[in-house]
Amino acid sequence: MTTATDWIAQRGAALHGEVLVPGDKSVSHRAIMLGAIAEGVTRIEGFLEGEDTRATAAIFRQLGVRIEAPGDGVRNVHGVGLHGLRASQEPLDCGNAGTAMRLLTGLLAGQAFNSTLIGDASLSQRPMQRVIDPLAALGAHIDSNDGRAPLRIRGGQRLRGSHIDLTVASAQLKSAVLLAGLYAAGETRVTEPHPTRDYTERMLTAFGAPCEFSPGIATLRGGVMLRGTDVHVPADFSSAAFFLVAATLVPGSDLLLRQVGMNPRRTGLLHVLRMMGAYIVEEAASVQGGEPVCDLHVRHAPLRGIEVPVQHVPDMIDEFPILFVAAACAQGATVVRGAAELRVKESDRIAVMATGLRALGIHIEETPDGATIHGGKLQSGTLHEGGNVIQSHGDHRIAMAFAVAAQVAEGEVLIGDVANVATSFPGFDALARRAGFGLRDA
Ligand code: S3P
Repeated sequence: MTTATDWIAQRGAALHGEVLVPGDKSVSHRAIMLGAIAEGVTRIEGFLEGEDTRATAAIFRQLGVRIEAPGDGVRNVHGVGLHGLRASQEPLDCGNAGTAMRLLTGLLAGQAFNSTLIGDASLSQRPMQRVIDPLAALGAHIDSNDGRAPLRIRGGQRLRGSHIDLTVASAQLKSAVLLAGLYAAGETRVTEPHPTRDYTERMLTAFGAPCEFSPGIATLRGGVMLRGTDVHVPADFSSAAFFLVAATLVPGSDLLLRQVGMNPRRTGLLHVLRMMGAYIVEEAASVQGGEPVCDLHVRHAPLRGIEVPVQHVPDMIDEFPILFVAAACAQGATVVRGAAELRVKESDRIAVMATGLRALGIHIEETPDGATIHGGKLQSGTLHEGGNVIQSHGDHRIAMAFAVAAQVAEGEVLIGDVANVATSFPGFDALARRAGFGLRDA
């Protein structure tokens, strides 16, 4: 488990061997949620043992659902049915998890009882009006702290199916509306400005609640019973991404990432890295639990800067911190546009990455919705000179991105505030060291 608060990262060895990253965060959250409101038992294998997904499981236990953990990455969820959840007298703590908070807001809006959702300091700053408004259009009643958590969700509302036209491309918002739609009278339809990950739609269908969907649009009818089922969680592409870029950057690397989830709404980074010149080959492709998976074989390759096609942005929304690192090591400039959402993630990822890369000697121009990153040499002095401390602002993906950057930087990099890596990728540091990273607790 990652419990260190700071890391010291520096060049290690060329990356070799096989790496199996933990289970997908998005799928793990949803499997607990749908399992909880289904009839019968849902067995989850490959569940992400991260703080975010454990927070979701703890919340459903608070709501009266029996969830057993018979082994690492295994959960048996004893579903209580659509109307079987019980009120919690205590607030429900989502920790750092935006996905938990937004999806639960939708699900709880349809209950007979009141609930309060809270989160950590970072989550309490993130925008929630964007989920409150579409749910209010279905008849939900949610009070907030000026558009932020805590969220007080009033139970006993009569939700009405409706057509919700989202203005932000966000799978969290779409999923919140669909989960509320399960409790609404009639049909709920969500359209989005750009297609986003469709795990909720796929999983609802697997649980026997017919959800019609095609890219950018999803429709379901309320009141349908869900049936518990087995869920196999693939390895998280977003976690694999750190190793894909590290092996691309470190000379001599040759690494196999095993059985990575390849949902097309998640793999935008793969297209972009290949455009930049990366060598990444898909092997042993199969379908597991309805999701495409494959091994990703990556070798070192020099990169060149590109303009990131805007249509790939939603399909790689969590991968920009590590893409910025790849861009910093590429020849020429990389231009990112249409990614304003990065400013409201676990941190303002454009600003935090720009500050960190500048500290390592990279020239980067920020724009409101992206950045231009000029490839160069990552430089870091000796630690006692104090010029090489990178603050991750408690953002897991920033911490891991700079651990990768340090593998090709001159000198040592102190990465501050890394405990939240455990939200999505417990054990990242040990796995990274085994592959060849130079990384230790500070
Ligand atoms: C997620 C959707 C994305 C993503 C997050 C997980 C999901 O957020 O950044 O890590 O599981 O639905 P947005 O919906 O805010 O883009």
